[in-house]
Amino acid sequence: MLSYAICFVLLPFAFGHPQQAQATATVCSDGTADTNPTGPLLEESWADPCIIKLNDTHYSFATNHYRGEKTINVPGASSPNLTHNWHVIDQLDALPFAGHWTTQPDAHVWAPDVNQLDDGSFVLYYAAENATTKVHCVGAATSSSVTGPYTPNSPLPLICPDDGAIDPDGFTHEGTRYLVYKQGHAHSDKNDPTRIMLQQTEADGLTFVGSPTELIHSTIIGGNDTESPALVENPNGGFVLYYVNNNFHQTAYSIEYATAGTLTGNYTKQGALLHTGQYDGVHLSGPGGADFVNPDHMIFMSNAACEFNGTRLMHAAVLQYQGTTVTLRS
Ligand SMILES: *[C@@H]1O[C@H](CO)[C@@H](O)[C@H](O)[C@H]1NC(C)=O
Ligand SMILES: *[C@@H]1O[C@H](CO)[C@@H](O)[C@H](O)[C@H]1NC(C)=O
Ligand SMILES: *[C@@H]1O[C@H](CO)[C@@H](O)[C@H](O)[C@H]1NC(C)=O
Ligand SMILES: *[C@@H]1O[C@H](CO)[C@@H](O)[C@H](O)[C@H]1NC(C)=O
Ligand SMILES: *[C@@H]1O[C@H](CO)[C@@H](O)[C@H](O)[C@H]1NC(C)=O
Ligand SMILES: *[C@@H]1O[C@H](CO)[C@@H](O)[C@H](O)[C@H]1NC(C)=O
Repeated sequence: MLSYAICFVLLPFAFGHPQQAQATATVCSDGTADTNPTGPLLEESWADPCIIKLNDTHYSFATNHYRGEKTINVPGASSPNLTHNWHVIDQLDALPFAGHWTTQPDAHVWAPDVNQLDDGSFVLYYAAENATTKVHCVGAATSSSVTGPYTPNSPLPLICPDDGAIDPDGFTHEGTRYLVYKQGHAHSDKNDPTRIMLQQTEADGLTFVGSPTELIHSTIIGGNDTESPALVENPNGGFVLYYVNNNFHQTAYSIEYATAGTLTGNYTKQGALLHTGQYDGVHLSGPGGADFVNPDHMIFMSNAACEFNGTRLMHAAVLQYQGTTVTLRS
């Protein structure tokens, strides 16, 4: 999803003079505490955020940051409150080394997802660049602390199909653990669909049980690219698979969802939850990268400018479920 990530640090220097329309510091998606969605929750770029709530603290981790010469593979932030008082955890790189299988020194780490295991320890799933093929694959790393440092569990990637895998997201249902992810790369000149896959794991979050199942795949109508999955249980029964359609550098990027009665499907695409537009006075641009505290509380990213300029900011939204329909809570 983030093949442009390395540009983020260069752009501010290359384009030091904002266009007139952006002359004020106001970002495109400026919500207040009373709006739904809310945000931005942090002032700095926070792409593909994940969220985990432990006791009374929320933690979020995001796609890599470049600070001068230094690459932070997995930056982290925390807050006692989902919508207020977020701060970046100073100097934190939750994944100092992304694994022997990754390109060094910069593994291009994207879309981390932190999960707590039954024994209280943590597993971090992430996408990073395969040193040999230069295609992104999914890796896993473990830590006894939520903020790490996480250590890769293996010298090899966890999931590494020839056409790549990114955007991992852990999901637990009735004590059984799963991992959803995107397989395939739509940014090539191929017209192959991208697929959202579901893989069951043992309690360790690392050992596979059986083979992956395809939940949905992209269509040309969806822009040939479907990514960034997140699964939740529908409070009304069944499951909701959130995903993102289109390319992240286009304002057509949108958070969509599909529903199913059983975890492995069949999933019925229900359309967009959030696309570029005005919601409760907040202008969202290319919303994507959703993750969930619980089915009702979602975080996601939206372009800081009204078009893609590299900076994506974190937002939160409260959702409501009526049958298989999901909307912003009014
Ligand atoms: C959460 O609270 C429990 C019980 O007080 C404690 O054992 C645990 O360490 C806390 N977890 C974190 C991440 O602070
Ligand atoms: C966050 O803080 C606001 C304002 O104090 C409060 O209304 C809200 O309930 C809090 N949310 C959570 C999830 O604690
Ligand atoms: C890279 O990808 C290939 C092809 O999927 C895989 O066989 C290999 O184990 C991966 N890792 C390295 C270090 O090449
Ligand atoms: C899907 O891919 C085809 C072939 O590359 C391309 O012609 C078409 O424009 C793409 N569709 C969208 C919506 O990007
Ligand atoms: C899912 O769809 C496939 C193909 O359309 C069909 O063969 C299968 O019976 C369906 N499964 C369920 C559980 O509806
Ligand atoms: C993108 O636009 C936002 C809002 O105007 C601005 O704060 C940010 O610095 C811009 N980022 C880049 C990389 O130009």
